Amino acid sequence: MATSPDLSDLMTFLPCPTPDGWIQAALADQATLLIDHANCEKKAAATAMGLLHKHTDNPTLMNKMSRLAREELRHFEQVLSLMCKRGIAYETVTASRYAGGLHGLVRKRDPGRLIDTLLLGALIEARSCERFAALAPHLDSELSEFYLSLLKSEARHFKDYLALAESLADRAEIAERLGAFKVLEQQLIEGADEEMRFHSGIPAVA
Ligand SMILES: [Fe+2]
Ligand SMILES: [Fe+2]
Repeated sequence: MATSPDLSDLMTFLPCPTPDGWIQAALADQATLLIDHANCEKKAAATAMGLLHKHTDNPTLMNKMSRLAREELRHFEQVLSLMCKRGIAYETVTASRYAGGLHGLVRKRDPGRLIDTLLLGALIEARSCERFAALAPHLDSELSEFYLSLLKSEARHFKDYLALAESLADRAEIAERLGAFKVLEQQLIEGADEEMRFHSGIPAVA
């Protein structure tokens, strides 16, 4: 059994806990949960690769993003393997409004764009980690152990993104931007959603 890392920083960082309604909906449709989880790991790797390509003037960022992309692709392989083992076909699943909605707040020009993208990365990693931890006690032992095994790396990704953002902006700017992201994030997490996705709000009961 994987040991749980200390998630207190990350829990304090998030504007709200995942509502129970989402947990129940995710448990009721674990095939969609896994497919969308696989998509999220791919997107996390692609985001890291994008930053790595674009910011060649920042060796710390490139190193962190390179490592992060490799880890996210490894997670993708692990989800894919579980899906194959469980006979879950990789069907097309539409994206939730979560990431798209939050991306709408990202400023359009650097350095603001980079700072916001890094803060958004921290928020998404923190939420993912919180959801793995929230689901784990309710899952079968194989999936539960897998989700607990992801906590450590996702918690580190949260810290890496936040530290990179903090290296590029002063406290006031970080606080102002995080405040805006968190208000919307809470609305997206606590609000009603049409369908269950890894980062959706509370899905309507079918
Ligand atoms: Fe991941
Ligand atoms: Fe991650």
